[in-house]
Amino acid sequence: SYSFIPFSSIYLSISGATLFSIIILYFFSSTTLPPGPFSVPIFGNWLQVGNDLNHRFLASMSQTYGSVFLLKLGSKNLVVVSDPELAIQVLHSQGVEFGSRPRNIVFDIFTGNGQDMVFTIYGDHWRKMRRIMTLPFFTNKVVHNYSNMWEEEIDLVMHDLKGNERVKSEGLVIRKRLQLMLYNIMYRMMFDAKFESQEDPLFIEATKFNSERSRLAQSFEYNYGDFIPLLRPFLKGYLNKCKDLQSRRLAFFNNHYIEKRRQIMVANGEKHKINCAIDHIIDAQMKGEISEENVLYIVENINVAAIETTLWSMEWAIAELVNHPTVQNKIRDEISKILKGKPVTESNLNELPYLQATVKETLRLHTPIPLLVPHMNLEEAKLGGYTIPKESKVVVNAWWLSNNPTWWKNPEEFRPERFLEEEHETDAVAGGKVDYRFLPFGVGRRSCPGIILALPILGLVIAKLVSNFEMKSAKGTKVDVSEKGGQFSLHIANHSIVLFHPI
Ligand code: HEM
Repeated sequence: SYSFIPFSSIYLSISGATLFSIIILYFFSSTTLPPGPFSVPIFGNWLQVGNDLNHRFLASMSQTYGSVFLLKLGSKNLVVVSDPELAIQVLHSQGVEFGSRPRNIVFDIFTGNGQDMVFTIYGDHWRKMRRIMTLPFFTNKVVHNYSNMWEEEIDLVMHDLKGNERVKSEGLVIRKRLQLMLYNIMYRMMFDAKFESQEDPLFIEATKFNSERSRLAQSFEYNYGDFIPLLRPFLKGYLNKCKDLQSRRLAFFNNHYIEKRRQIMVANGEKHKINCAIDHIIDAQMKGEISEENVLYIVENINVAAIETTLWSMEWAIAELVNHPTVQNKIRDEISKILKGKPVTESNLNELPYLQATVKETLRLHTPIPLLVPHMNLEEAKLGGYTIPKESKVVVNAWWLSNNPTWWKNPEEFRPERFLEEEHETDAVAGGKVDYRFLPFGVGRRSCPGIILALPILGLVIAKLVSNFEMKSAKGTKVDVSEKGGQFSLHIANHSIVLFHPI
């Protein structure tokens, strides 16, 4: 029995075991990089994996390399996280360590090297910007104050559709009209200003500036110069295009909107009542909390973060509704049964569970930012037992978390019922009990503050469209739901023509 083993040999074997575990720990936790394909000098894995590192491709790689893997893209590291446990680590438990954002050479230009909020590193500047933006944009009071205005803008869309006979016979691509609506919602909140119509020269200019900004930033065209510093001189033309666009775009925001608010504030002096978001922001600047540049970049951030994302979600929702008439019927039935002829408003959305399930199902199947906005660790960090080199770009494959058949029943199916049945406890809302399989808005410190506006606006648009119209494909078949992605966006590839039959 063990009582015959001399003390010294127990001691030796314990210290042997300790030494052994230290060696194992050393190899597995302090020096081991996450697995990944074999990489070559200078190019890394870039020549193997190409430019379009989309959510589907990265999901298939995770089946080979595991729930955290590393790709070397020239001089840069990309770490891909593909399971809920590790997502908790990146977004929550180690939210500070992974709470920065990487910027590439193009994003440096569009954010003035991180003078904004969305693409700045985790630290005092970000904290201050996020705090200053919260009061005028992201509180229940803001929702309460503006929801009538949202409903008014959405009703104008219904009015336009009803006044146009052709939407019944020939149908239309509704994107442009919804875009005008969202610009008006956001510009009224920001500047107390709105556009007259789709032909309004300022609307044409604003959308041109923003879509050109999206195109240049989301393109894969510039990857080579971003990944391989040696090739950067060849990008000079592209970067100049970005710089030129950005300076004209910022001047547009400044001259047409911000300056006007400044003048109104100055004219009113002490008596000025803050009446839109930018007044708050300018006020913070006048108190010396942020700079004039910061004000401009807040406007820039809202233009990119708020409008297109919500518009893509609406387009996805409408396409799925057209392809699933029974879902339209169920929403309609729910509204008439529960509201009994009362109009849908922001305050009664929470009485409509099937409608909410439809919003969630849209965001699950067509996650508008499928890899979230990239995260970054300023210092070397640990994840899943591996070493993550400092300044790695860390992406959480949120689309895969919510479309992996291991965790979801028939994930490829558009079926809102799942959120009332087997997934009734699953919510996209950050705070409370968070389900890390469903993160369309991220979670934790860098999560989307705009969720508080986006969810009710999406719910209202769907509810009003469905209760006023039967939406059908113009070709009598299903509309095309192919995807088109960019550096981190996911939108519908083709904007289909839809028939709107008044009910
Ligand atoms: C960040 C999604 C609408 C403002 C994000 C992130 C996601 C996201 C995935 C990054 C989370 C992370 O990195 O962990 C969406 C979706 C939207 C939407 C799917 C619409 C359906 C909005 C709206 C606004 C907004 C309406 C503003 C009015 C922001 C801002 C950030 C952000 C400022 C950066 C937060 C930070 O870095 O601290 N959003 N968003 N978003 N979103 Fe949204």
